[in-house]
Amino acid sequence: MKKTIRDFDLLGKSVIIRCDFNVPISDGKITDDNRIVESLKTINYAIDKGAKLLLMSHLGRVKTEEDKLKNSLQVVAVRLSELIHREVKFIPETRGSLLEEAVNNLNNGEVILVENTRFEDVPDKLESNNDFELATYWSKLGDIYINDAFGTSHRAHASNVGIAEKLPSGVGFLVEKEIKMIGEVIENPVRPLTVILGGSKVSDKIGVIKNLVNIADYILIGGGMAFTFLKAKGLEVGSSIVDLENLDFCKEILEKYNEKIILPIDVVCGLEVSENSTAIAKKIADMNKNDMGLDIGQDSIELFINYLEKSKTVIWNGPVGVFEIEQFSNGTKAIANHLANQNIITIIGGGDTAAAVINEGYKESFTHVSTGGGASLEMLEGTILPGIEAIDNS
Ligand code: 3PG
Repeated sequence: MKKTIRDFDLLGKSVIIRCDFNVPISDGKITDDNRIVESLKTINYAIDKGAKLLLMSHLGRVKTEEDKLKNSLQVVAVRLSELIHREVKFIPETRGSLLEEAVNNLNNGEVILVENTRFEDVPDKLESNNDFELATYWSKLGDIYINDAFGTSHRAHASNVGIAEKLPSGVGFLVEKEIKMIGEVIENPVRPLTVILGGSKVSDKIGVIKNLVNIADYILIGGGMAFTFLKAKGLEVGSSIVDLENLDFCKEILEKYNEKIILPIDVVCGLEVSENSTAIAKKIADMNKNDMGLDIGQDSIELFINYLEKSKTVIWNGPVGVFEIEQFSNGTKAIANHLANQNIITIIGGGDTAAAVINEGYKESFTHVSTGGGASLEMLEGTILPGIEAIDNS
């Protein structure tokens, strides 16, 4: 068991809270503030307990000076300030006198947000490589470290693992909930347990398949990755995405777990991944060499729903079609709609799957919608996440 924010007396303490404010931004505007909203419980708790809050996060991937221009956290400070109804002082640097003075001048209940921690990645990847000197510098700004950045916990950065190794540490409410919800369904699932996997690449999901195939009762495979499995069965999949390097892996898994792995029986095809692509429904057996499968078809939706109807727990990771394009979004929407109306345990992986269900307005209808894409995937693989591992045990 890891220590949590509840285990500390926060009054008058300088508390570094690592959040994952890596939110989508378009034209300078946040297009989905879910990760900020999900951080509020921990932030408000620390404010109520009289802590001096120093918030940190990365945003995007920062490899050049130019990347810094479009990846400032200032816009997040503005949104957070609206959400917590108090000032969030933005510090436009990741180290230096401005930051140090702001920390020294903090009063109980006040909040500052430091600039994107990955600005330290230019030029030497100090943040992403968990640089010792950088982590030491940051750790000296706080008395207590709280990791509430579940989405970053599969990374070993200076701002999570590095600081955690140098300060008394605990997890925030968001991370605590993610560990509990995802951990419980893997360790002790209410059966039958069905896993829905989608997304384009088999390679991204190999670890999950290897781990969950031993735990789940059924694995339903949709999305681009289904076509590698279908090809492994010797079927024509036209110009659909196929991960040739993992064809043998798919063959082996299908041979060994034939009963457990359920593949689509029909598809919605287009000529290309484009909003202008006309959608054509086909049986898999009728696909010709120009067809590109971009969604599961109606019969597959019904087949998948049959399995979902006999399930008591469902884990879903990866859209089953190109849901960003209207004519190829039916499969993902139908599954989201079905699951949202079931009285069963539903765990939705972060990233694209979370975006799809939140876009459909179903966020509150699931047992848990993870805030971590890569992190939830790694947990489902059975990996111990370094950002959580580094936190003190209770
Ligand atoms: C995410 O969005 O999955 C996390 O914030 C981690 O971001 P990264 O993949 O750039 O490390």
